[in-house]
Amino acid sequence: MLGLLLAGCGGATPAAEYGEELFQDARLSDSQFNSFSCATCHATSATPEPDRMLAGYPLENVAFRRTWWGGYETDLLGAVNFCYLSFMRGVSPLTREDPKARALYEYLMRISPDTDAPALPFTVVKDIQDVPPGDAGRGGAVYRAACQTCHGATHTGEGRLTSFASVLPEVTDDYDSLFPGTPRRLVVIEKLRHGSFFAVGGTMPLYSREALSDEDLSAVLAFLGL
Ligand code: HEC
Ligand code: HEC
Repeated sequence: MLGLLLAGCGGATPAAEYGEELFQDARLSDSQFNSFSCATCHATSATPEPDRMLAGYPLENVAFRRTWWGGYETDLLGAVNFCYLSFMRGVSPLTREDPKARALYEYLMRISPDTDAPALPFTVVKDIQDVPPGDAGRGGAVYRAACQTCHGATHTGEGRLTSFASVLPEVTDDYDSLFPGTPRRLVVIEKLRHGSFFAVGGTMPLYSREALSDEDLSAVLAFLGL
C-alpha cells in the first residue's frame, strides 16, 4: 500500500506539474509580443489527432531521443531553446539553472517513458519549387487543422491567435509589388517551407516534409485560391 502511494507521488512531482502549466502558457517567454506556447506547435501524445496538423512533432518520449532537429541539435535544452528563441521571441536562451527550464525538463521527462526512443527524421525543403494543382476540399481541412489556430478564419482573421498573424489570403495581394515576377503561390510555398529561416523573417514555424506533404501544401494553396 505504502509502495503504491509512493509510486503515485513519484509520477507527479510538483516540478513536472508546474512544467506542464508552463508548456501551455505563452508567458513562459518574457516577451509581451509572444502569443505562442509550446502547445501551440507540439502535441504531447504520439497518438495522432486527426483535426490538428502541427509544425512540430509530438513530444512524447522527446527526452531520450539521441538527437533533435534532424541531428542538428545534440542537446535537449538546445533543441528547446531553438524554438524559444526563433518562435517565442525569447530574448536570451533558457539556462539549466532557470527554475522554469528545470520544471519544463521535469515535465518532458514525465512524458518520456521510452528511454530508448529513436531520433525522428526532419527534412527541410531547401529549394523552393512549384507544386501541382491541389484539391481545394482537402485544402479546407488542412487549413483548419494546420493554419487556423494562428491565422483565424480566411478573409477576416476572426479568432486568430495574434494580430501579428496575417489575414489569408489577402496578405498576398501585396506580393506582386513586393516580389515582382514571382508567382504569389511560390512566395507562400517559401514561407511554409522556410518559416522564419533562410532570410525569411517572422516567428511562424517552418514545415518540414514530415510535417506537411507537398500534396497537402498544394491542397491548402488551392483552398486559398492561389
Ligand atoms: C511556433 C511553433 C513552435 C513553438 C512555439 C515551439 N516549437 Fe518546438 N519545434 C517546432 C518545430 C517546427 C520543430 C522542428 C520539427 C520537430 O523536430 O519537431 C520543433 C522542434 C522541437 C524539438 C525537437 C524535437 C525533435 O525530436 O527533433 C523540441 C525538443 C521542441 N521543439 C520543444 C519545444 C518546447 C519545449 C517548446 C516550448 C518552450 C517549443 N518547442 C515551442 C515548432 C515550435
Ligand atoms: C504557430 C502559428 C502559425 C501557424 C501554425 C501558421 N502560421 Fe502563418 N504566420 C504566422 C505569423 C505570426 C505570421 C506573421 C509573422 C511571420 O511572417 O512569421 C505568419 C505569416 C504567414 C504568411 C506570410 C505573410 C507575409 O507577411 O507575407 C503566410 C503566407 C502564412 N503565414 C501562411 C500560413 C499557412 C498557409 C499556414 C498553414 C499551413 C500557416 N501560415 C500556419 C503564424 C502561423
